[in-house]
Amino acid sequence: MKASSLPLLAFVYAGIAFATFTDQNVLDACPGYNATAVATHGNTLTASLTLAGTACNVFGQDVEKLKLEVTYETKSRIHVKITDAAKKRFEIPASVLPRPKADKSVSPEHADIHFNYTTSPFSFSIVRSANDEVLFTTGKHPIIFEPQYLRLKTDLPDQANIYGLGEHTDPFRLPTFNTTRTFWSRDAYGVPTGENLYGNHPIYFEHRTTGTHGVFLANSNGLDVKINDTDGTSLEYNAIGGVFDFYFLAGSTTDPTELPRQYAEIVGTPAEVPYWSLGFHQCRFGYQNYLDVAHVITNYSAANIPLETMWTDIDYMDRRRIFTVDPDYFPLDRMREIVDYLHTHDQYYVLMTDPAVAYLPGEDYGPFNRGTDMDIWLKSGDGKNYSLGAVWPGVTVFPDWFNPQTQTYWNNEFNLFYNPKNGIDIDGAWIDMNDPASFCVYPCTDPFQQAIEQNLPPNRTTPPPDKSIPPFPQTSQAHTKRDGQFAFDHSGDNLFVPPYAIENHAGGGNLSDRTAWVDSLHSNGLIEYDAHNLYGTMMSTATQQAMEQRRPGKRTLVITRSTFAGAGAKVGKWLGDNLSDWPHYRNSIAGILGFASVYHVPMVGADICGFGDNTTETLCARWAMLGAFYPFMRNHNQDIGRPQEFYRWPLVAQAARNVLDIRYRLTDYIYTAFHQASTDGTPVLNPLWYKYPQDTNTFPIDLQFFYGDSILVSPVTEENITSVTAYFPKDIFYDFLTLEPFEGQGQNVTFDNVDYTAIPVHIKGGVVLPLRQKGAMTTKELRKTDFEIVVAPGVDGKASGQLYADDGVSVKQRSTTLVEFAFDKGTLTAKGEFGYDLGVKLARVRVLGVNGAPKSVKVNSKRVGDGAVAYNATSKVLDVALNATFDKGFTLQYS
Ligand code: GLC
Repeated sequence: MKASSLPLLAFVYAGIAFATFTDQNVLDACPGYNATAVATHGNTLTASLTLAGTACNVFGQDVEKLKLEVTYETKSRIHVKITDAAKKRFEIPASVLPRPKADKSVSPEHADIHFNYTTSPFSFSIVRSANDEVLFTTGKHPIIFEPQYLRLKTDLPDQANIYGLGEHTDPFRLPTFNTTRTFWSRDAYGVPTGENLYGNHPIYFEHRTTGTHGVFLANSNGLDVKINDTDGTSLEYNAIGGVFDFYFLAGSTTDPTELPRQYAEIVGTPAEVPYWSLGFHQCRFGYQNYLDVAHVITNYSAANIPLETMWTDIDYMDRRRIFTVDPDYFPLDRMREIVDYLHTHDQYYVLMTDPAVAYLPGEDYGPFNRGTDMDIWLKSGDGKNYSLGAVWPGVTVFPDWFNPQTQTYWNNEFNLFYNPKNGIDIDGAWIDMNDPASFCVYPCTDPFQQAIEQNLPPNRTTPPPDKSIPPFPQTSQAHTKRDGQFAFDHSGDNLFVPPYAIENHAGGGNLSDRTAWVDSLHSNGLIEYDAHNLYGTMMSTATQQAMEQRRPGKRTLVITRSTFAGAGAKVGKWLGDNLSDWPHYRNSIAGILGFASVYHVPMVGADICGFGDNTTETLCARWAMLGAFYPFMRNHNQDIGRPQEFYRWPLVAQAARNVLDIRYRLTDYIYTAFHQASTDGTPVLNPLWYKYPQDTNTFPIDLQFFYGDSILVSPVTEENITSVTAYFPKDIFYDFLTLEPFEGQGQNVTFDNVDYTAIPVHIKGGVVLPLRQKGAMTTKELRKTDFEIVVAPGVDGKASGQLYADDGVSVKQRSTTLVEFAFDKGTLTAKGEFGYDLGVKLARVRVLGVNGAPKSVKVNSKRVGDGAVAYNATSKVLDVALNATFDKGFTLQYS
């Protein structure tokens, strides 16, 4: 290593390792590569890349020869791969991220984007064909390729609009100065801004008024992506392993939502969700015993707040060992009664399952003994011993998801424990700590960590309840209501403290800090150093499969903490351990937008009212209302926090009732959005700029968003304030509750008197909304509620919409309903397949923004009696009572 090219020292402060600050001049002085033997075969171009000068050896020896392979895979996608020509390196296995096939019929000349290159030194750019705009260019920055350091850098327009590169709690539009996004899964209590968190999605969308495009780097190794504006704006990839495996997506010059659809072709479209999962979920860490759980269920009912799904955290386990119950505090028969009770009341139950299994050799603990017999634990670097960690139950082993036997093991444990016959019949699974988390690098030295390691029993503050007490006393209101060979050569690598230090905030600078040892060995020879970021996604897939084989034919809900690109095709996700404060309330919006509009994990939500610290009444009220527009709506709290179920305060209870009524009425609308997403990757949530790509004011907005395509949510975002200033693009909107038109002027609007039980919600003009007439206590009851159609014409007087319906739970549907609504010049048509029997009526149609009472209203050319027609001149709503069966298309006309 040349002295002059040494990185400017890494330093450690207060237990946190900061990245190695690399002198860009040093990196830019590296020789780069020359391209030779450039050849094209069909849609693929290949070349040899040879080091173009004296090696700069910044963080290791420069690799002499690389291989370039560029494929025009579709009209809108180019795949660029740069690998070591002499040595196979780690790449994300197809079993984890299957790659799309190239369409051989694509002709590069007609592609939406082009790959341009220079040979000496080699550089490349991606150019948009429609306008010759350079979208990505390495021209000014040599590529560096070393065993543990890969660098590739592009210039960007000044103040580029970059979105993605999560998981993060940074603004949705990433700052273009001094920004490092680090990809290394980590147990990130408090989800701090600017730091690496649980999930890794190395995709960015860049938006310009001339078009929107995307860049995905399929690399799961530790990675820093740096965005800076020191010498022009630039984005730089710094990876500590793997290969350059880029996908460039053309997106669109007119409709930004084309881009998520193109990205879905790589990572998969999101999983369809069970209808019930869109109901409200209650959870907390720290329910002391089964009675606590039962009381929460009955208290929601008594407070008349819909509770769809009850959750229980690790508290239920015997000494926090997975697949067990605490015999004193959560006895099995009482737990089974709770599940029965929920199921007979059309409610659901979810339990937590962690990946780490208590290491208890010689003890009678089936889950450990069976896994040991099957030899499915992650091994230490020598391949002989188990890779141990310290998690909730003390010393643990970790399932190795690459081991082909692990799925069998996991299925078996799910069948034994989560079964309706003699176990606990859960409806969905909650998987956590799958970053994977370990409280310390085992064997631990810190006293707190040692305490955990020594198997501390859960901190019970009360004596166990009398086991003979039934969980639901009859008086309850609820009853009356209702061997070590690495697959890839890592000799010479420093796995623990690589020469280039990514900005991992997990501890003191060792990549093993707070996770499994990075030299741990998987059964297929992969090491954790390469596969770390995939652990959570692999556990997700395994759990989804375990749930599906346990409940054949039924969709399931699996909510995970750690994700990698592609996870959303199987599971949903919550945003981890946020805090009960206003900054976390606010940044949850950017968080859910990232997952539901960019990463394709749309079943996403943050812990409502906040996880860590204590919430306040007004924060919880506001959060209940914002959280009703998270696709996954769950209240969850830390064990030491004050209780925060919505019924704890009258104000919060009222806020929850009000907003759940709105959410539930919109369930079929958002279910339709999920269905559409699962079909083609259309986003379930939309940032404003997706809908107004020319309106530069919308580009930074991350305190408002569209729920689905057309419901604009503008929550109050400050403490102790009953007003909100929100941006309304030049367009027509309608207040969701009064239905009155509201003209957006491309300006901020202040709504005053937004009390603690209200949230401004507007319908974007141009949509036909299928709504339930009213909310309900459960989604089962909701499905028996009649529909109404709300027509909200756009500025051009037109509107369109969809309703998708099915039985809500089967993986394979026998029949489905898909209705297309279209409205123009006083005529609404509903056409489509009505295969699934909705079993309810179409109660009425309301047309908004109607300027004057019509003289006649006809349905299917038959005049509707005057008694069934009402017109409100103030709200401009035309209301037509139909009370018709909703099993075929129809036309409604007024004039
Ligand atoms: C982790 C989870 C949190 C859970 C706790 C106990 O911190 O993120 O949601 O309550 O573990 O299981």
